[in-house]
This record gives sequence, structure tokens and C-alpha cells, in this order.
Amino acid sequence: MSEISHSWLNELPKIELHVHLEGTLEPELMFELAKRNSIPLNFSGVNEVKEAYQFSNLQDFLDIYYQGAQVLLHEQDFYDLTWAYLLKCKEQNVLHVEPFFDPQTHTDRGVPFKVVINGISDALADAEERLGISSKLIMCFLRHLDETSAIETLKNSAEYTDYIYGVGLDSSEKGNPPEKFSNVFSAAKDMGYKLVAHAGEEGPASYIWRSLDILNIERIDHGIRAIDDPELMLRLINNQIPLTVCPLSNVKLKVFEEMASHTILEMLEQGVCVTVNSDDPSYFGGYMTENFVSLYDNLGLSKDQALRLVKNSIDASFAPKKRKKGLYSILDEFAAE
Ligand code: ADE
Ligand code: ZN
Repeated sequence: MSEISHSWLNELPKIELHVHLEGTLEPELMFELAKRNSIPLNFSGVNEVKEAYQFSNLQDFLDIYYQGAQVLLHEQDFYDLTWAYLLKCKEQNVLHVEPFFDPQTHTDRGVPFKVVINGISDALADAEERLGISSKLIMCFLRHLDETSAIETLKNSAEYTDYIYGVGLDSSEKGNPPEKFSNVFSAAKDMGYKLVAHAGEEGPASYIWRSLDILNIERIDHGIRAIDDPELMLRLINNQIPLTVCPLSNVKLKVFEEMASHTILEMLEQGVCVTVNSDDPSYFGGYMTENFVSLYDNLGLSKDQALRLVKNSIDASFAPKKRKKGLYSILDEFAAE
């Protein structure tokens, strides 16, 4: 009999380092907010929305994802969105999270930056106090927009550096290489932000090299294309540069044909600091537990591998040293049960 089970994976203490808050918008909340804010939706009901979540690639998904985000208008909407995600974390024993938000998706529609950040940061503060979930918030720039817009967004964030810990880069990867954002990343570093970027999701391994060398990022979001480049694999292994991998997302967006062909465990065994994350859970069929469960069901994830994946997430996180120590103890205690 296997040492682990679906319920063990749910109880496993977990850390999430790659989740877009806008990607946690469940269809039920989308309809509730659309009604509350009198925003028309192109769907007649929750089931029709769920049926529409069939994607052939990243762009296909992004088109629907940006539509969904239009129901978010007020501080309370951003609070409700974030709080719903954090309750899910509580249910799945996710103890520390480093969520992304995309301010440009909202400021471009006339929603003030302040409204977005206040709603999100209030929910994160409440989660720390009431649910015991710690967090570090990361602001992403949309790479399909130009660098001037990213610089404007960075300037807007200057008032909120107490709430924003790092910056990232997301949206359409192909045709929008890392170097397009070299100035804004350099300025963000000068402001004291931690730096991460999506790279090597649909784009080539060379985008990972350039994110490391030109943008100076410390952690790569996705990065699964690294496996095509042995020299890059050596660099990732030798320097223990973390990858925030999102298994269900990769299958939904056809980066892999099926979960059985996903390379995350192969990379883990080669010594890469890979971690498990949900990306856009409401669109891709699951949160943290469902991602672990899928690795177990399709790739035979072992207890030892599951524990190593969580250890990698603790190492790769931006949590303060003391919190990391606490997280290691919780994990060790759980492993010994
Ligand atoms: N924004 C939300 N999800 C994303 C993903 N998987 N890749 C790039 N940008 C995103
Ligand atoms: Zn992502």
C-alpha cells in the first residue's frame, strides 16, 4: 500500500509561491460581483462559464481571464476575492503564500491603484491574524503592455512598499522577451523589491537565461523549458535557483499533453529546486491539494518527494528566517506522524 493518500496530501503543510489573485476568481463569485456592480457578463450562468474553460494555449486563457477580472471594481471586491482564496488555503493547510496581483488590469479600466492594494492587503492582514497564514505580496507587470506603463505602475507602488514585497512579470510570454523590461526591473531593485518573472512557460529556455542575466531575478515562475538546455539545468542546480512550477496549469494550457508527461519530478530528482503551485486555480481545475493529488495519481509522487517539494518551497520563499524555521518545524513534525 502507498504511504500517502489524497487526504494526506490535503493535510500536508504547504506553501504557495505562484498564484495570481485574479486567477482565483471562482465563477460563483464572478456572478455575485457582476450583479453587485451591474456589469454584464457574456455568460448565462456558472455552468456555461465552466464549460468555456477549455484552452489551447496561454493567450486563449488570458483573453477569458482579463474578461473575468472586469467584475472587480471596489475595495470590498478585492477583499472578497483575496479572502475566498485564503479560506481555501486554510482548508488545504497552506501556511504561507506569495500571491501575485496585476494592477494594470485594473488601473487601465479606471480602478485606482489604491482601491486594489487596500482590498488585497486588508485581506492578507486579516489572514495572518485570524487564519495564521503569512504572506508576501508580489506586484506583476503585464508584459503585453509597454515598459512605460510598467514604470508608471512601479511609481504608483512607491506609497505602498509596506504592503508589496516584490515585483514579477506575467501575461503573454511569446514575443515579449524579458529585456523589454530591463529598466523597470532595475528601478524596482533600487527600490528594494525582490524580483521574480514568468519565463520558460511557453517561451524558450533563452528567456530564462535573459530573465536571470538581464532582469536579475531570484526566482523563476514556471521555467519548465529549462529541461531543453543542459547548461541552464546545471546553473539552476548549482545555484539552487527556484522554479515555481504549476502542474495543472501546464496541462490546461497544453504546455504538456497530459500530466503523465510532466517533467517536474524528473527535475526534482536531478536536483533542481522545483516547487508546486496552482497559478490560476479557478481556471485550471484546482488549488494546491489538487496539484499534489494530480502528481500522485499520474506520476506516482512519493511521500519523500512530496516532502522535498514543500521543503523547496520554504527555501524558495521570501518568508523571514524565523518564519522559515517555524515552517520547517511544522513540516518535520507532520512528516514524523
Ligand atoms: N497570468 C495569469 N496566469 C498566467 C500564466 N500562466 N502565464 C502568464 N501570465 C499569467
Ligand atoms: Zn502564472
